[in-house]
Amino acid sequence: MSANVSEKLTVIALAAGKGTRMKSPLPKVLHPVAGRPMIEKVIQASKQAGAAEVRVIVGHGQQLVRQVVEPMGVACYVQEEQLGTAHAVRCAKPETIEGTVVIMNGDHPLIEASDIKDFVRIFRDEKCDLAVVTATLKNPAEFGRIVRHKGDLAAIVEAKDASAETLKIREINTGIYVVKASILSEYLPKIQNNNSKKEFYITDLISLCIQDKCRVQAIQSTPKVAVGVNNQVELAKATRLLFKRKALRLMEEGVLMIDPRTVYVEDSVEIGAGTVLYPNVFIRGRSRIGSFTVVESNAFISDSEIGDSVQVRGGSYLENSRLHNKVSVGPYARLRPETEIFEEAHVGNFVEMKKVKFGKKSKAGHLTYLGDAEIGEEVNVGCGTITCNYAADKKKYKTKIGNRVFVGSDTQFVAPIEVGDDAIIGSGSTITKNVPANALAVARGKQFVKENYTAKAPVAEEKE
Ligand code: UD1
Ligand code: MG
Repeated sequence: MSANVSEKLTVIALAAGKGTRMKSPLPKVLHPVAGRPMIEKVIQASKQAGAAEVRVIVGHGQQLVRQVVEPMGVACYVQEEQLGTAHAVRCAKPETIEGTVVIMNGDHPLIEASDIKDFVRIFRDEKCDLAVVTATLKNPAEFGRIVRHKGDLAAIVEAKDASAETLKIREINTGIYVVKASILSEYLPKIQNNNSKKEFYITDLISLCIQDKCRVQAIQSTPKVAVGVNNQVELAKATRLLFKRKALRLMEEGVLMIDPRTVYVEDSVEIGAGTVLYPNVFIRGRSRIGSFTVVESNAFISDSEIGDSVQVRGGSYLENSRLHNKVSVGPYARLRPETEIFEEAHVGNFVEMKKVKFGKKSKAGHLTYLGDAEIGEEVNVGCGTITCNYAADKKKYKTKIGNRVFVGSDTQFVAPIEVGDDAIIGSGSTITKNVPANALAVARGKQFVKENYTAKAPVAEEKE
């Protein structure tokens, strides 16, 4: 192996452009692709590919872009005026870089670490000074065209500056380059802006280096790495491709899908083998799902941890919640942040929970609101139970219910309140005082019965 292999790798990501065609107030590179800002994808791929340093060129909306990229440990370099891609690279101060540089557009979110690694490996194996990554497209549209002489790379010509003949070329510039840092320092200052846009084009580096007999090569890649985002239609297309990629990976790892085209799982999510995803599920963020779990249609799961053999039934909405093994929730359950459901518990339809610990084998089958509550094990929470956790003083109070408590239907717990183990709450009660263990508590209007009440009425009429 040559010393080159361990040479330092730096990525320069161009992200200063306005993204006019997005027609959106958000800087282009912050638009989310499958849940994450597209620049984040580019930075992640760079780091995973072994980049020791990532320099992001910012300009338009730089305050916002910095908020997203700086916490990822990358350095921002400002390009005040967008004078072209070569000018943008100069703003990264290449004279302060050593080793190999990969230049990429910040709006190519489908790029993966393995792609970058491949390009760098080829560049080093072929002992190149400069390499440009190309792809052959059915419709090369606005991409720069790769012009070859007798098969050898000669130049890149921008679509706007190309003749009708050149526009017929289907091999295009993906906008990804691998280059020695020393070449950038030497040749960037030589690039001129005599073209239709009066911009300094990084693409001119190719012809300049070829003229000087540097070793310049085209690395032929796939159309995937050419997928850039310039408008909302392309953004949606990139998002669909990323969801598809994730679904394929999950299936390779043994996740079952009835229709992978309608499964939307973000890249950060982990799912165990044997789990089944029904059509139209959306799983986001830091969610983790175990094995042999079933997620039915229209479930929305965000930042939640779900164990093995769990049933998440149709239409359920889960945020920042934790479901232990063998739990079942829904259909139509809403679990709000900080809810934890322990083993074998059941949460049924139209049940909402927030900041709740719901014990092992407990059940809340129907139409219930539990908030700021701790429910023990094997508790039965009857239909229509409500924890009245929010008081007139605008503060939240806790409800604590022991193990094996039976809560009759239509009960209200006026918090703060505690119910001891094995207590029974009579149906229709409004519980305002603590209930000790083993007690029966009933708090409702007494029923009175007036016999023959309706039979009397006709008699009264007869008198008139
Ligand atoms: C560029 C290439 C083209 C290639 C295409 C691939 C040039 C001249 N052309 O064209 O050959 O086929 O990418 O997508 O390089 N940017 C800055 N500062 C600037 C100008 C641009 O940071 O002054 C950034 C943009 O934010 C964007 C990237 O550079 O992320 C590419 O710029 P863009 O104007 O989209 O170039 P293309 O016309 O797509
Ligand atoms: Mg572009």
